[in-house]
Amino acid sequence: MRARPLSGMLLSSLAALVLLLAGACPAWAAFSLPPLPYSAEALEPVIDATTMALHHDRHHAAYVANLNAQIAADPALAELSLDALQGQIGRVPAAVRDAVRNNGGGHWNHSQFWAVMAPPGQGGEPSAELLAAIETSFGSLEAMQTQFNQAAAGRFGSGWAWLIRKPNGSLAITSTANQDNPLMDLRGIERGAPLLGLDVWEHAYYLHYQNRRPEYIAAWWSLVNWQEVNRRFAATRA
Ligand SMILES: [Fe+2]
Repeated sequence: MRARPLSGMLLSSLAALVLLLAGACPAWAAFSLPPLPYSAEALEPVIDATTMALHHDRHHAAYVANLNAQIAADPALAELSLDALQGQIGRVPAAVRDAVRNNGGGHWNHSQFWAVMAPPGQGGEPSAELLAAIETSFGSLEAMQTQFNQAAAGRFGSGWAWLIRKPNGSLAITSTANQDNPLMDLRGIERGAPLLGLDVWEHAYYLHYQNRRPEYIAAWWSLVNWQEVNRRFAATRA
């Protein structure tokens, strides 16, 4: 019996390894937790480092892990990007819809939340184009912020306040419950492109502000990363 050439044996071993890995890993690209774009203490004193670390490393991480578990159980969902998933929640099979809605929404919402914040004093200002749109829709920046604050403070229980750009091009303030967001094709949600979203779940502020949600909301404006909001506004224009 002839011995197999060494190169043939290596190729066979490599092929076996590839098959082994293919069986052990999902065929789809799992969603992953994005790193914070700054250190956990960078937003102090407005948001303390412990809150940031728990919020990102535990809460957001759990949404990602739970979303991936749902996707693994329903490979058809793996075809969708995270953005596309939000817009098609209404078409997700009923058996997994709430789990995908809560965890996919949680992943999308928190990913934008980290991006629209910056260390105090580093977020810049609204662009001339965004400011003009805000003045057209609300009268002034201050009037928009007042309306946003009311939506954030008035959200009963857990949820989010949003500045959105509606399909007709105007800007609006809206609020969603739990981990819903304005991209979702669900009844009762005012849809639009989110420009700025604020997390008003107690896990976002309770360690420092306890039940003083309005104080957290007022202080949060000093963290807004207007450069990112400007970018999102520009990206929504046709
Ligand atoms: Fe949160």
